[in-house]
Amino acid sequence: MLIKDDIFKYFTNEEFEAQAYDQQLATWEQAKVKNRLSLFALNGGQALIIALAMTAMLALAANDVAAGLMTLGDFVLINAFMMQLFMPLNFLGFVYREIKGSLANIENLFGLLAKLPKVQDVPNAAMLNLAEQGRNSNNQASIMFNNITFAYNTKRPIIKGITFSVNAGEKVAVVGQSGSGKSTLVKLLFRFYDVNSGNININEQDISQVSQQSLRSHIGIVPQDTVLFNDTLFNNVQYGCPTASKDEVLKAIELAHLSEFISSLPDGLDTVVGERGLKLSGGEKQRVAIARTILKNPQILVFDEATSSLDSHSEQAILTAINEVTKSRTSLVIAHRLSTIIDSDNIIVMSHGEIVEQGNHQQLLALKGQYSNMWQLQQS
Ligand SMILES: Nc1ncnc2c1ncn2[C@@H]1O[C@H](COP(=O)(O)OP(=O)(O)O)[C@@H](O)[C@H]1O
Ligand SMILES: [Mg+2]
Repeated sequence: MLIKDDIFKYFTNEEFEAQAYDQQLATWEQAKVKNRLSLFALNGGQALIIALAMTAMLALAANDVAAGLMTLGDFVLINAFMMQLFMPLNFLGFVYREIKGSLANIENLFGLLAKLPKVQDVPNAAMLNLAEQGRNSNNQASIMFNNITFAYNTKRPIIKGITFSVNAGEKVAVVGQSGSGKSTLVKLLFRFYDVNSGNININEQDISQVSQQSLRSHIGIVPQDTVLFNDTLFNNVQYGCPTASKDEVLKAIELAHLSEFISSLPDGLDTVVGERGLKLSGGEKQRVAIARTILKNPQILVFDEATSSLDSHSEQAILTAINEVTKSRTSLVIAHRLSTIIDSDNIIVMSHGEIVEQGNHQQLLALKGQYSNMWQLQQS
């Protein structure tokens, strides 16, 4: 809510938002009036029918008593019976409304429960065959994107046949203009979506055949936009590995070059970061995300524009940290600033869902193509 609040003010749209809210309230008001009226009709009608029926019965009974066909006792008996019958009937209107209301809620609930996740494990899915969280550095992971295509919406293909591999222990960079599908590649690797054709293999194992849990436990992602929980800095970092000890968390924080910032805070590690981390700057949030991933200690590391909201000074610090943690690991680095990836083993240049160039920094410069253009632009 606070984040939205800021947006209203940036665009001085408080009036506009207040009107929109007012309209919503007016609709709600109308619905409420309708609801009340229908309830009134139901209860009123019911009471009327009951009253008429009571009057008619008692009039008939009184008539019979007057004619000597029934005793006064019979009259009282009929009255008592009628009361016993009609009181619960009167209650029925209320119960009916409650039942209707609950049914509407239950329908929503079951609708939600019946929803199947888009990505499903195959029956008896195998585990991804990798060593537990980087304990054995010999068992490294290679990644192979094998002619994959993908579209969020069938009408608009996003990835149009991409093939490349990241050998075990290598650092491969993906660059390209915004919207070319770089983050989508990461989501496919993490299996947030299934590819439309082709396959992605990790150590020759097709990721669509292994359990999502085992796949994701081996990949650490520093995403483009980090989501933090409204909790303390310490807990936010520890989220990377909830079983980690305090020392391990502190070490991760140190590696992510966060300690200096934290010691400048009056509450230090106990500082609460606000909803979605809004009390931190973009760069600070990204460093928390990096610390988290370092703590997770996965075999495969993915950085999605992890240094894009940092100034050159903190970027250098982060890059040192990134280089340290990627040294013995397979890593995929999506970068906006080319200066951050010149040391990569291979650089993939993407445009509109396709690979247009690839090679190392020197080779790509010699090509004098898109990469070299981007490089010139960023250098000037
Ligand atoms: N969840 C989504 N649903 C529909 N389209 C999406 C979704 N996410 C991204 N896109 C579209 O896919 C394209 C590639 O996005 P993305 O992979 O995030 O690009 P990049 O990271 O290279 O900037 C963009 O044009 C974007 O609009
Ligand atoms: Mg992106």
